[in-house]
Amino acid sequence: MPRRHKIALIGAGNIGGELAALAAREELGDVVLFDIPDKEGLAKGKALDLEQNGAVLGYDAKISGTSNWDHCAGADVVVVTAGVPRKPGMSRDDLLSINLKIIRNVAENIKAKCPEAFVIVISNPLDAMVYEMKKVTGFPKARVVGMAGVLDSARLQLFLARELGTSVKDVRAMVLGGHGDTMVPVTSYCTVNGVPVKQLMSKEKLDAIVTRTAGGGGEIVKLMGTSAYYAPASAAISMARAFLRDEKRLLPAAAFCEGEYGYRDLYIGVPVVIGAGGVEKIVTIELSAEEKANLDKSAAAVRELLEAGAKL
Ligand SMILES: NC(=O)c1ccc[n+]([C@@H]2O[C@H](COP(=O)([O-])OP(=O)(O)OC[C@H]3O[C@@H](n4cnc5c(N)ncnc54)[C@H](O)[C@@H]3O)[C@@H](O)[C@H]2O)c1
Repeated sequence: MPRRHKIALIGAGNIGGELAALAAREELGDVVLFDIPDKEGLAKGKALDLEQNGAVLGYDAKISGTSNWDHCAGADVVVVTAGVPRKPGMSRDDLLSINLKIIRNVAENIKAKCPEAFVIVISNPLDAMVYEMKKVTGFPKARVVGMAGVLDSARLQLFLARELGTSVKDVRAMVLGGHGDTMVPVTSYCTVNGVPVKQLMSKEKLDAIVTRTAGGGGEIVKLMGTSAYYAPASAAISMARAFLRDEKRLLPAAAFCEGEYGYRDLYIGVPVVIGAGGVEKIVTIELSAEEKANLDKSAAAVRELLEAGAKL
């Protein structure tokens, strides 16, 4: 008999709540929404609300809230949003010292309670947090991944679709590199149903869209005083689904490089294939000289962040 999957969501805040809603609606498995003891009521309340939502919408999922790590035991997938989000004027890197301590604690517990899980990290600064997750858990690189590229690419897709007046469904785009100001929208691979966008718009327009994409998270923080959560949650769910259903999706994600693209001992956004084996491979694509130079710059920024983290 196939058993139901178990999905543990660490952090029951804005993204955590939306992750739970999506996982339940898609019936990916039973959901445990975990938060610190002070926020246990929030986790339990959201869980109950979402179980009642199942009666309205007609989905089958057990959803529970907790601050007890024992309840996360044996999860197939763990998605980590624990930490603090940005406030207006802050960069993702400003969150390093607070969130690093939180991630270390979360990673110790995942190692102890969910030793077989596929772990998707969302907390910022993303590349440093996912690196720390792998370091503390000691899990194989295939089972620890960071979510950023799917979200950043979605932002690029939207801005391109709006500019071109086409459906967002037809726009394909890929953003690689670190999840920060140095991210690298790979415009040579942006197409509308196979037609390179470079044939459809001027360089000036494309450059403006690339700039808006890199600041896409900050634009939302400025508007609402905290980070985005709908698209980040959907992006992580697409990665969880790819693992649980062995979809073999090719997605941009922060993966552990051991020589790929010339980087070693570094988590950075690269194209990967996600299936039942987790991050089954890193796909090496050809980049223009300018794109590779930008990726190198982004890798250097991530490395700087890791060095700062190592001192904390
Ligand atoms: N990777 C991305 O693309 C991306 C996009 C958006 C936001 N983020 C990041 O995701 C994180 C979460 O964002 P949010 O909007 O959900 O924030 P939020 O404040 O709404 O939720 C975070 C939750 O984590 C909880 N938490 C704190 N310490 C914890 C611990 N030790 N164990 C378990 N839970 C703990 C908090 O109590 C809070 O409920 C932030 O760091 C944000 O910057 C990343």
